[in-house]
Amino acid sequence: MMSQNAIPLLDLTPEIEMLWDELNAAFQSVLRSGRFIMGPQVHAFEAQVAEYLNVKHAVALNSGTDALVIGLRALGIGPGDEVITTPFSFFATAEAISLIGAVPVFVDIDAQTYNLDVTLIEEKITPRTRAIVPVHLYGHAADMAPILELAERHNLKVLEDTAQGFGGEYRGLKLGAIGDAGAFSFFPSKNLGAYGDAGMLVTDDGSVAEMARKLRTHGSLKKYHNEIPGYNSRMDTLQAAILQVKLPHIQAFNDGRRRVAAAYRDLLHDVPGLVLPVEASYACHVYHQYTVRITIGRRDAVQRGLREAGIATQVYYPVPLHRLPVYSALNYRLPAAEQAAEEVLSLPIWPQMPAEAQERVASTLRMLLR
Ligand SMILES: Cc1ncc(COP(=O)(O)O)c(C=O)c1O
Repeated sequence: MMSQNAIPLLDLTPEIEMLWDELNAAFQSVLRSGRFIMGPQVHAFEAQVAEYLNVKHAVALNSGTDALVIGLRALGIGPGDEVITTPFSFFATAEAISLIGAVPVFVDIDAQTYNLDVTLIEEKITPRTRAIVPVHLYGHAADMAPILELAERHNLKVLEDTAQGFGGEYRGLKLGAIGDAGAFSFFPSKNLGAYGDAGMLVTDDGSVAEMARKLRTHGSLKKYHNEIPGYNSRMDTLQAAILQVKLPHIQAFNDGRRRVAAAYRDLLHDVPGLVLPVEASYACHVYHQYTVRITIGRRDAVQRGLREAGIATQVYYPVPLHRLPVYSALNYRLPAAEQAAEEVLSLPIWPQMPAEAQERVASTLRMLLR
């Protein structure tokens, strides 16, 4: 069956080829400068992102996971505090909460957007609740207005996990720039991806930014004057230089993803047993993933069929966080997240995905669901 070329989940080669000369120049300038740690490209990239997102401060870090850990600590969250979040995300979202000694409190998701069901949050707020961490899953905004309203009323901090949503919007505002702080990942497969690990915390609050800067260099703002235990979580200069080359293209890349998503909708809207992603009226979806739902219990068989036809897909995520061994003793029942974990399937998508590849994905899916 593998007679045709394989279709990957994501193909970075068109972007690398398009930017080849600029990427090489960026690499070489870092090599020549020898300033591999906190070189000028790191500060320049911070300034570029702050401008793009319209935030006052951007702190370049080593990963999205560190952005969550450092973001929570910089917002004053600590041991014993309860933090409300979604069970339908990458583990790092809850892991960061646990790593600082706080307790993740899972609230079920909205079955259409796969993000926090905002109608279920308030009943989980206790006197120990200190923060909400919404995730903009797959690049679709969480419904931020009700989240901010609850946070205001109950005096909670809001840290947006924007790992999958760079450039996405909520009611015209850039994701990550809406709550008290926003955490970003530049893992290579993200909409804005480095060529290694990298992340960032953004905020309008000067004291949060200062604490994040302190935490990223071993709890010190002045070398060898360590005030608190922190981390070694600086963004590599090489990664910052690469991200500087890529940032000016993010709008075009996200537009490309939206074009691919629109083409999938045209190709797939009438396939029985297939539920396509929605874009809520408040959202500008940037399709980090194009995630469909395959109902009637056939997801795994369909994924196998696609694999046999040379088409890569992925299940984000097969186990909701509350069902992972680390949290299963908490005995949550979160039916919408559990059902999503059994039904979702992310199809190949990248900004330059050719129409023929999309047509092949669609016709194979149509055949498998017949
Ligand atoms: C929703 C979400 N949160 C956090 C992370 C962690 O980011 P990183 O891999 O850069 O540590 C990721 C991605 O890996 C993610 O998808």
